[in-house]
Amino acid sequence: MKKGIQYLLLLLVVVILGVGIFSVARRLTGSPAKSRRENTGTRTETKAADKKDKKEAEATTEKKVDNSVPMTALTVTAPQGYLRVGKDMQLSIKTEPAEATNTDLEWTCSKEGAVTVSGDGVLTPNEGAEKNTVTVTAKATDGSGLEQSFDLRILPAIDPSKPMVAITFDDGPKPETTNAMLDALEENYALATFFCLGQNVGYYPDVVKREYELGMEVGTHTFSHQQLTALGAEALDQEISKAVKANEDALGVKPSLMRPPYGSANKTVLQAVKGYGLCCMNWSLDTEDWKTKNADATYKMVMTATDGDVILLHDIHEYNVDAVKRFVPDLMAAGFQLVTVSELYENRGETLDPGTIHFRTDPTTESAGETEAASTEDGAVSATTAP
Ligand code: NI
Repeated sequence: MKKGIQYLLLLLVVVILGVGIFSVARRLTGSPAKSRRENTGTRTETKAADKKDKKEAEATTEKKVDNSVPMTALTVTAPQGYLRVGKDMQLSIKTEPAEATNTDLEWTCSKEGAVTVSGDGVLTPNEGAEKNTVTVTAKATDGSGLEQSFDLRILPAIDPSKPMVAITFDDGPKPETTNAMLDALEENYALATFFCLGQNVGYYPDVVKREYELGMEVGTHTFSHQQLTALGAEALDQEISKAVKANEDALGVKPSLMRPPYGSANKTVLQAVKGYGLCCMNWSLDTEDWKTKNADATYKMVMTATDGDVILLHDIHEYNVDAVKRFVPDLMAAGFQLVTVSELYENRGETLDPGTIHFRTDPTTESAGETEAASTEDGAVSATTAP
């Protein structure tokens, strides 16, 4: 009986141990095995999805390389030959025939990474691409061999929180001097505004075109430099209308800014220019170049500029060429952004409405100070009249 109890106890121990070992074994093998199976299942599913994606991708690729109707013509047109970092440009892309099966283009740039072109032809100059002139090429991918290239000057982005000035030139164009000044501006990727005399635009349209193509703003300085406030209604209208036409004939666009000769304007003048969509733009810093006739004196005057200034010069004087060559890089080195009048106003959130008169933008930096506009060009008249 005693022995029987011992056997029973031993059996019980064996049973308990057995259950314990089984349960541990289940835990060790059962659950992980299940989990592994699940994992394997997921991987298999992923693989299947990958395969499906790949097949779809292949199908898309096959669709893209359907070159059965190749292009016969490709025309890519950039609206202008320059662009600022921070501003996009919509290119015009035309392909023929309309039923071409593959009109995808491959875009390349002579400076890698300088620009990005989207599928619908929006060109973006990338940061760090400024102060470069690049060649952008669009190439057909349908085997037709069609391609087209265009050059693009990339100007630095404008930072509205930093100092900027608008350099302005009156009385031109005059090929020898205007072109030399344009060279200096072009070399430095700087912009300026040219208030041209209509009659000179007629004589030298190529110089005006060059100004425009480089991104300079081309305004008008009337047709023949009359003092507008002294003119009768008809003569006043002629001075403005002939000037507007001269710009339009040369450039295909009408000016939006007019600098009245001697800065002389009154309500009648403002009303007259309003009818032509023009705004009067005078100046806040007169270099008095016409008086000093000296490159060093002009240079020194320009270097006194403060943020928001509109600086008056004349591009018809030989003695100004050296001044421009010196002050353009030096103003930039001093931290000034050299922008057009319209860029200056746009970046300062100020408007240039037709029929209004302006002198400078409000400063946004401490260096700037208000300058009284005085009209002394040619020493004739000193009066700028508010509207
Ligand atoms: Ni003038």
